[in-house]
Amino acid sequence: MTKKTVLTGITTTGTPHIGNYLGAIKPAIEASRNPALNSYFFLADYHALIKCHDPERVARSTREIAATWLALGLDTDAATYYRQTDIPEITELTWILTCMTSKGLMNRAHAYKASTDANRDAGNADLDDGVTMGLFSYPILMAADILMFNADIIPVGKDQIQHIEMARDVAGRFNHTYQPLFNLPQALVDEQTQLIPGLDGRKMSKSYDNTIPLFCSRDELRKLINLITTDLRVPGEPKDPHSSTLFQLYSCFADAGEIAGMRRQFLEGIAWGEAKKQLFEFLDARLSAPRSRYNALMNDLGHVEQELHKGAEKARAKAAPLLEKVRIAAGIRPLTYQAPAVVSDARKQEKSAEELVELAARADEGRRRAILVQLRPLLDRVAGADDKPAAAAAIIAQKAAEVDSLKKKAKQKAQNELDVLNEELAVFLNT
Ligand code: TRP
Repeated sequence: MTKKTVLTGITTTGTPHIGNYLGAIKPAIEASRNPALNSYFFLADYHALIKCHDPERVARSTREIAATWLALGLDTDAATYYRQTDIPEITELTWILTCMTSKGLMNRAHAYKASTDANRDAGNADLDDGVTMGLFSYPILMAADILMFNADIIPVGKDQIQHIEMARDVAGRFNHTYQPLFNLPQALVDEQTQLIPGLDGRKMSKSYDNTIPLFCSRDELRKLINLITTDLRVPGEPKDPHSSTLFQLYSCFADAGEIAGMRRQFLEGIAWGEAKKQLFEFLDARLSAPRSRYNALMNDLGHVEQELHKGAEKARAKAAPLLEKVRIAAGIRPLTYQAPAVVSDARKQEKSAEELVELAARADEGRRRAILVQLRPLLDRVAGADDKPAAAAAIIAQKAAEVDSLKKKAKQKAQNELDVLNEELAVFLNT
């Protein structure tokens, strides 16, 4: 079985906080330990330039994020960990893909629309006021990030789903126009980890200024935890764990037994001051070992730089051959280039058994992908349903009935579709 490739990028504009850790970094590091996956994680520093024109901030954030992932134990031999700007192939691919992207598609991108909407709301007649071409075509750079490594699975926040859809669109257009060189990637959104509360109880986010930096000092951590919003219940009065930010943050790091213990204390009326003290001691104990590794790495940036170079070398070893195929497919070729001769029938018959198996597997994969494109609306319907297992079961039942009602060739086609649906929807079905 071929390994699936997981890829995600982190824009280098901020300081990593607890929400980033739980929502993105921790699951990514766990995925990188899964032997069934190839993982690519990168510092998206070209993306940083889109929204931040403060060079010191971009550079500082790049150092901080680079050291954070290493401090948390990312194994850079297992994963490919690199900085986007170390991979010139990505920018080159961006241009080729730009020529495959319709402007209308980019007009619909959320980030761009948010800017034009803000101008409209402010009564500004120039809807594009303040919009750079970087912001406008940012989904194409992101498509290049993903397609450059033929990634299959892209773990992202909800706000990024549209960009993955756009990457699929652009890949499809390239494949159709030239040669099928690109996988169609899929977004993976983890609903649970989207909801890490910040100091004020809203989602922890830099834009709400309610974050707890992952590796702030012990004193800073204590100070921030003391700022967490609580209600007016007095000591001794039972507290509702579920509406409490303190309890939720504790739960994100604790095991089942610890969570049960804290819940009991809440119901027994623990004082808010005491709950804050316990949360502080608990988080500090969890974070102190990675915090000292982080501080050591921030004092040894040459080492961090070396790790990124190692990652860039691995990444380029994958990117360069694919980019070469892309260029050739599009007609960017050495003047002396000659297309490989078509293999004659006699030679074809000499193929070894292994080659035949591989060819058959490739043909199967191609067929499967073609079927998937047609089934996409059905799969999307399941993805968007409130009750996914029920929606999946209904779609399978409908297709099975179709198979039964058809004859021969049409039946085989519907059966193939049913097989792919069963595979794709297996996670939702109790089989
Ligand atoms: N745009 C993403 C964000 O803001 C970061 C990113 C850049 C990314 N390139 C990517 C994520 C490629 C996944 C894949 O979160």
